[in-house]
Amino acid sequence: MKNLPLKIAFGILFTLFLVIYAVGLYHYRDQTPQSFHHTGSSTHQDWSQSLLHENPTIVASFLRGAKYFRHTSSFASLYVGNSLSCTQCHLGGGQENGILGLVDIASYYPEWDEREGKKITLVERIQSCFLRSENGKAPPVENPVIKDLKAYVESIRPFSENSKKPWRNLIQIPKEDLIPIEKIEVAQGKFLFDQQCAFCHGHQGNPMPGIPPVWGNESFNDGAGLARVYTLASFIQRGMPLGGANSLNNKEAQEIAAYIDSQKRPVYAGKQKDYPQGDIPVDAVYYPQRYPTNPLQPFMENKYKE
Ligand code: HEC
Ligand code: HEC
Repeated sequence: MKNLPLKIAFGILFTLFLVIYAVGLYHYRDQTPQSFHHTGSSTHQDWSQSLLHENPTIVASFLRGAKYFRHTSSFASLYVGNSLSCTQCHLGGGQENGILGLVDIASYYPEWDEREGKKITLVERIQSCFLRSENGKAPPVENPVIKDLKAYVESIRPFSENSKKPWRNLIQIPKEDLIPIEKIEVAQGKFLFDQQCAFCHGHQGNPMPGIPPVWGNESFNDGAGLARVYTLASFIQRGMPLGGANSLNNKEAQEIAAYIDSQKRPVYAGKQKDYPQGDIPVDAVYYPQRYPTNPLQPFMENKYKE
């Protein structure tokens, strides 16, 4: 009995620990993309800023578009062939500068597109992300998914109104820092990936729940923008590791990108029709017109038969 006060103290401490743990877990879950699948509603406070229009029909369409943008693989599942949502690449709902930001881009369209070999509309550009990045099907022009996503993209505002507009594209790694594809050290990329990325994205393309995969069947296909090494490297340098953006230098980002794009991913059937003018970019490593086999793949096959 003389240990009773001690036991009570332990009891209180343990209960406290459980409460803190539960609160922590709740907050963590709230920050992962997975939680969006559960709540089905937008948790982004800044979106109220985006409601530019008085017209309630446009506002309703914008809000539905925001939902599709955040939870694409759940709410637009008919047109999605993997587990990715738009916002997992267009970070922060497309409102982050330089990391696939989509603020004020609508005015550029229709625009010449090298890959398609023609001028395309904003709707066609969104459809292209469905076909490639979402490894799915293009929703028809009149489909609500496309109409609402278009309304969303047309209305989003930057997080900070002070920033220069428009916020477009990816800030690319400068040309003088690009390493020729065959000279990139893929083994170093694997080392860095295992050290800095695998904790979330998994060592074998098997990410933690709520984190998007970077290769394998549930990832973007080989005709997607991120399947190009330099585009992926720019994304990584600007945006990853999540919470530690800009910590990798341009060389490291290219090494990791080469490792990720040496991996197997879904095949985009339309690759043969891409770049009809014939200028296939040097970093399009999955394009047979450019490389009979992915020049980065021997690394995986020869050195890491696990
Ligand atoms: C796997 C990553 C990924 C996913 C998922 C993704 N995109 Fe993209 N998206 C890209 C990349 C890469 C580009 C090309 C950027 C460049 O060329 O610099 C792009 C370009 C775009 C553009 C053109 C941007 C511009 O500046 O003109 C639009 C619009 C767009 N995406 C919308 C969407 C929508 C809507 C979804 C969801 C249905 C989506 N994307 C899903 C990676 C992705
Ligand atoms: C703390 C966890 C975490 C770490 C560490 C991390 N990521 Fe991510 N990554 C994410 C999340 C979460 C997303 C989706 C972004 C969102 O929902 O806002 C993402 C998105 C991505 C995407 C685009 C979506 C996809 O799956 O293709 C790529 C590519 C990527 N990360 C690569 C990397 C690389 C390379 C590293 C290491 C340098 C890294 N990540 C480190 C959590 C992480």
